Amino acid sequence: MKIIGGPASQLLASRVARELGITPTLCDFNCFPDGEAYTRIQDEHIKDVTIIQSTTTDSDLVSLLQMIDACGDAFIINVVIPYMGYARQDKKFKTGEPISARAVARTINADRVFTVNIHEKNVLDHFSTPASDLDASKLLGSHIGSLNLTDTLIVAPDSGAISLAKSAATGLGVDCDYLEKTRISGDTVSIKTKDLDVTGRDVVLIDDMIATGGTMAESIRLLRQQGAKDVYLACVHPVLARNAVIRLFNAGVRDIFATDTIEKAQSCVSVAPLIADAIRLL
Ligand code: R5P
Repeated sequence: MKIIGGPASQLLASRVARELGITPTLCDFNCFPDGEAYTRIQDEHIKDVTIIQSTTTDSDLVSLLQMIDACGDAFIINVVIPYMGYARQDKKFKTGEPISARAVARTINADRVFTVNIHEKNVLDHFSTPASDLDASKLLGSHIGSLNLTDTLIVAPDSGAISLAKSAATGLGVDCDYLEKTRISGDTVSIKTKDLDVTGRDVVLIDDMIATGGTMAESIRLLRQQGAKDVYLACVHPVLARNAVIRLFNAGVRDIFATDTIEKAQSCVSVAPLIADAIRLL
């Protein structure tokens, strides 16, 4: 079994390879003078391979397609897409739109596909090969446990993220809740934790991803107004687009931590053990 890490997942692929006791196969990633991507795998004897590459940008997707094609003579090609871009466009929101997640999934020609906390599980059905989603919530939970917080409360910013919050909290034996929007009148809504009081507690807001930071910035402000001690952010995928980090610190976050599905300064929790376990079971 060989491990190949794409340009977006060099650190994660190295960590997975180390978990498995394999030296990762080197690739050249370069650009032609016109800007087109050039990829070359420095190994001519690929038989059984796992390619690891998040597709945060369009060029990451092109690199992934090039690596898969370059391994075309292998007997087995597994593809791990730790963060799959376009997964949020899993339906037509307006007529005339594509289902972009489906369009992307259809380009992946492999024997087996893995994702990590994909935004909607139904996207997995669009791959032409068996696809499974790995869950990083317990790894985030362990990290939360190592922070020595006061009376920890894990909170999902909406009901969509409650299963992530529950799973992270269960392993730790701490409380979890979610922010609920209640309409008070035609133009007034109140947003607060559904069941539990946050006063004096360290709160960890958790979500699958932070993109512009808008959802979390609003949630941080509300929790601080409601008397939370410190507010931390945890997410699987730190997209953190544009000025998201500054927005979140301006909103009063104490710290942000995430996994290495996207390799950022905040990616202090590695999903490598999760991916290595999945590969071992193949
Ligand atoms: C949405 O359903 C996701 O779970 C996240 O809540 C969302 O993508 C976060 O986006 P933003 O950071 O731009 O508010």
